[in-house]
Amino acid sequence: MIPQLKIAHMHPRLPIIQGGMAYSVSTGKLAAAVANAGGIGTIAGTGLTLQELSTEIQKARTLIKGTGYIGVNVLFAVKQFAELVLKAMQEKVDFIVSGAGFSRDMFAWSQEYGIPVIAIVSSARLAKLAEKLGAAAIVAEGKEAGGHLGTDRPLKEILPEVVAAVDIPVIAAGGLTTGKDIAEMIKLGASGAQLATRFVASEECEAHPKFKQMFLAAEQDDVTLINSPVGLPGRALRNRFTQLISQGAAPIKKCEQCLKRCNHTFCISDALKKSVSGDTDNGLVFAGESVNKIKEILPVREIMDRLALDLDACLQSP
Ligand SMILES: Cc1cc2nc3c(=O)[nH]c(=O)nc-3n(C[C@H](O)[C@H](O)[C@H](O)COP(=O)(O)O)c2cc1C
Repeated sequence: MIPQLKIAHMHPRLPIIQGGMAYSVSTGKLAAAVANAGGIGTIAGTGLTLQELSTEIQKARTLIKGTGYIGVNVLFAVKQFAELVLKAMQEKVDFIVSGAGFSRDMFAWSQEYGIPVIAIVSSARLAKLAEKLGAAAIVAEGKEAGGHLGTDRPLKEILPEVVAAVDIPVIAAGGLTTGKDIAEMIKLGASGAQLATRFVASEECEAHPKFKQMFLAAEQDDVTLINSPVGLPGRALRNRFTQLISQGAAPIKKCEQCLKRCNHTFCISDALKKSVSGDTDNGLVFAGESVNKIKEILPVREIMDRLALDLDACLQSP
């Protein structure tokens, strides 16, 4: 039987969370589709104005049929972190999840607004700290994940350590694409799984068709690591732009001062905006390590149904 995931007031039919993907890769439309299919959807706040974030939240709400849970992910590294988190809390989303770090403040806001906070971490030490500060759940993310990375260790190593360190639900993330992958994580003590790369190749993901096509065409050695100006490594697909970054030759045309701290090696905001709107040669295409296993674009409902069938079958086999 598929175990019931419970995080604060949320008890989705399936223990599957769609990970937040910045610069409008995960919008209200995708999050609502995941929520309607029995999982938990995440709108990425990073890269949106406060007005745009409100619009995405409203859009998701109008698309959700019945009970469906949606939250907002904001990268801790962005200057607008506090404003975006507070806006989402005022809009009464079901949860907030912070990427690549967290602040003490957000737990105080969580208390004030009554909105649960989920922290993404890559170590037992940070999981413990987040629990102590008041996190409702932990996403334990391994090096296989797409986007910014907090570790070079595989998920299978990190997960049991995090599970042993905390008493709150632990969600496994990084490189999971099938129900079998999720079952393996549940057997290692996870209460659920967060998937992102799999949901890019969905009909409801609003990234440009060229962005999605790059996912479908990717082979294992098309996945690379870059040094992000945020000060962390990032997992992305090899293209003309990653080549330029590795040569230290990616030009910065105009600084939007979007980050709290930026090492100005290239403009991450410009690079992510370009790729999601279709300029996949000159933009940065974040993707997880298992992207090569995804070969078709499907409706979210079908992705979720297949994951559930496979997960159920794998949990029943010894
Ligand atoms: C295109 C893309 C953008 C991402 N953007 C964010 C983000 O803005 N904030 C964040 O916390 N994680 C981000 N991630 C990480 C995912 O939310 C997720 O935890 C991770 O990718 C899971 O691994 P998977 O993609 O192999 O399923 C991103 C991942 C991808 C593929």
